[in-house]
Amino acid sequence: MTKIILKDIPDFDKIEVYEDNGGYTALRKALLEMTPDEVTEEVKRSNLRGRGGACFPTGLKWTFMPKGKDKPKYLCCNGDESEPGSFKDREIFEKNPHQFIEGVLLANYAMGIKTAYVYIRGEYYKWINILEEKLQEAYKKGYIGNNILGTGFSTDIYIHRGAGAYICGEESALMNSIEGKRGYPRVKPPFPAQNGLWGNPTTINNIETLANIPEIINNGGEWFSKIGEPKHPGTLLFGVSGHVNKPGVYELETGTPLIKIINEYCGGVTGGKDIKMVIPGGSSMPPLTKEEVMSVKMDNESLKAIGSSIGTAGVIVMNEDTDLVKILIKIAHFYYHESCGQCTPCREGTGWLLRMLKRIDEGKGRIEDLDLLINVSENIEGNTVCALGDAAAWPVKWTIRKFRSEFEKKIPASPVTPEVKNKVHSLRHSEEPVKN
Ligand SMILES: Cc1cc2nc3c(=O)[nH]c(=O)nc-3n(C[C@H](O)[C@H](O)[C@H](O)COP(=O)(O)O)c2cc1C
Repeated sequence: MTKIILKDIPDFDKIEVYEDNGGYTALRKALLEMTPDEVTEEVKRSNLRGRGGACFPTGLKWTFMPKGKDKPKYLCCNGDESEPGSFKDREIFEKNPHQFIEGVLLANYAMGIKTAYVYIRGEYYKWINILEEKLQEAYKKGYIGNNILGTGFSTDIYIHRGAGAYICGEESALMNSIEGKRGYPRVKPPFPAQNGLWGNPTTINNIETLANIPEIINNGGEWFSKIGEPKHPGTLLFGVSGHVNKPGVYELETGTPLIKIINEYCGGVTGGKDIKMVIPGGSSMPPLTKEEVMSVKMDNESLKAIGSSIGTAGVIVMNEDTDLVKILIKIAHFYYHESCGQCTPCREGTGWLLRMLKRIDEGKGRIEDLDLLINVSENIEGNTVCALGDAAAWPVKWTIRKFRSEFEKKIPASPVTPEVKNKVHSLRHSEEPVKN
């Protein structure tokens, strides 16, 4: 199994060990032998897609940056990582920080950027301290700063600590946060490459995305494009949590069967129990049934084909004893709490979802609440400035659609009057917002 980031080399986080094993050779190669455009071309050839959740092609994103030197340009490295079930970027800061730093330097060279910010959630002080130390090491060795490796190329990397808001992982809220403003997402267009930090061209990339770049430059984009699934190549850092015997972060090729990850790498479900539900890519992704888990491969196209998505590759496994209503309350509470409040459907709707789910859990639900929950979800989805609304809506909508009986059994049997029947029917078929 190919390892690109979490290599099994002792002390790989130390700069000398990293250098002894080919570290910073990609930077040397790029600065001395390649033009910035050639670096971007190689990344395009690799077909690397962003690891922050949206799977956008990285090389293509880099080409959106204007070439001129009339304005400052910025790179924002997204290490906010605040979604429940996602914990893989921290592993890179801990196990292979220099490969990430080298990736940032290559991105800056390719796009003519002189300043990169690494945005890390403030509570993650352990990883902030690690990265700060590693950046200083790289500065001392002349890999960052002025006239890098005597080539005339100069660039700086700074850490920016977030204040602990999930919304600040959204790229435009992240930029507002760096600017010292409230973390509200911006309306797009204009996109960051045209109008980003302080109105200047900006690219935002996830930490894992950037950590892949040095090996792409060392081995060539074609080499990378042949690893795993052709349409979504490379490896992914799967952060597996929940009811498995060996939770943790596993670097595996895209296209690895999900059941293999659970049974072979993670030692199976705890207590030898059966699987009830698995969330494949962080808490916002539509969940999978046991039948889907048995056959799906872990790459974006395979998951899309069954109505889900790879997201952050944060896999949450739930066994047969899991109370899905309680799970959904936890997830809904998270999004309700983290909604920034800018868009009405998200600000109000996340609270409605939470309150209805609690009502069902307390045995006070009505059978029509299930369709009402789906209806409210669908009225949040696609109607907000950023995708936090979708992230709040999808788990509710799809857990109820796929596991309806789990919810029905908590609802007291009530005589279904013709009025209720009509309401359920109209909710199921209506596109109109529900008026309570
Ligand atoms: C609410 C919300 C939170 C997000 N949080 C993160 C995050 O913590 N880290 C991340 O890389 N991307 C996050 N994203 C996605 C970013 O907006 C953006 O797509 C990503 O950083 C781009 O990097 P990539 O192209 O390398 O994947 C989030 C998106 C939304 C809507």
